[in-house]
Amino acid sequence: MNLFDVYPLNDITITKGLGSYVWDDKGNQYLDMYGGHAVISIGHNHPHWVEKIREQLSKISFYSNSVKMPLQHELAEKLVAVSGKKDYQLFLCNSGAEANENALKLASFHNSRKKVVAFSKSFHGRTSLAVAATDNRSIVAPVNESTNIIFLPFNDEQALEEAFKNYGGEISSVIVEGIQGVGGIRVAEVSFLQKIRSLCDEYDSVFIADSVQCGYGRSGKFFSHDYAEVNADIYSMAKGMGNGFPVGGILISPKIKARHGMLGTTFGGNHLACAAAIAVLDVIEKDNLVEQARQRGTYLMNRLKSVNGLENVRGKGLMIGFDVSEQLKDLRKNLLYKHFIFTGEAKPNVVRLLPSLAITRKQVDEFIEVVQEEIEPLP
Ligand SMILES: Cc1ncc(COP(=O)(O)O)c(C=O)c1O
Repeated sequence: MNLFDVYPLNDITITKGLGSYVWDDKGNQYLDMYGGHAVISIGHNHPHWVEKIREQLSKISFYSNSVKMPLQHELAEKLVAVSGKKDYQLFLCNSGAEANENALKLASFHNSRKKVVAFSKSFHGRTSLAVAATDNRSIVAPVNESTNIIFLPFNDEQALEEAFKNYGGEISSVIVEGIQGVGGIRVAEVSFLQKIRSLCDEYDSVFIADSVQCGYGRSGKFFSHDYAEVNADIYSMAKGMGNGFPVGGILISPKIKARHGMLGTTFGGNHLACAAAIAVLDVIEKDNLVEQARQRGTYLMNRLKSVNGLENVRGKGLMIGFDVSEQLKDLRKNLLYKHFIFTGEAKPNVVRLLPSLAITRKQVDEFIEVVQEEIEPLP
């Protein structure tokens, strides 16, 4: 049977990983500046993470959400400790799209409204409502099209105010990434996030902070929206949450009340997923990885800014992007095939860096040296 051919593939087979490195089936070692698409938070196959999953596997790996699961409570408590979001409630699911789908749906249950404000170049996932709120028509199937989504320009406070003036009482939620990832590492301005907060308060709409890619410490704060010093009503999480084990979730403000049957899932919050997610938070806390992401990110960004030829170096913490000119269009390919370094991209010409939060200074230096070596011979 053929695989359904939806991904353009690199001709590489990865068979092993440790920390910020992965190895292919031929024994080549790669520096992972892509973090397996922003998923690797504490490093590939971190020994504590492996041990916690192994230990859980030997006890029980799954039972349905119809029974008590102390592991879910342990995860919730650790999340409070690391994120500082006291009194929030946790609902667990399996992926980023699912987290956003649940967030949007929950907001609508909460205020019985239908309209959603989303922004240019947003990416929120591929399920029906999440994809409808994603600014990429090519991945929205006719059945997902919705007249309920209002797209506005990102970081445009005036457009936001006007939309609330026109539709205020109908707007259920505003969904925004603190740093747009797929959209090309575009940072939401502090005053923009504050404006979303104040308008949501004024009109009783729900502020959804999509933290699937920019969350979990990657930005140098647990949630990148925290730079604006306002709280969202719902935070969606996935990617770094399980360090590769599929797990997602939403943190829900105490003002949103639960009722039985409102949300549900078969696999979400299963024993193994909780064990993996708890292990991630153990390591983030013990190794102070949020602060480390901030410092190492600043170091990496400053070094990138000193490389001639890289344009518009931007981002926060270890979520960094830069533009490359036509002359450097093969940079990513050369880094991968000549120097064994994975990086990410955003169309049309952005290189995205999303390494593990535990990347070392030496590994950052190793990366910069190779980039310089690639670029400097060019006229
Ligand atoms: C900001 C954001 N939201 C949601 C998603 C969807 O997550 P998933 O692929 O786990 O469904 C992604 C994935 O890249 C993302 O970057």
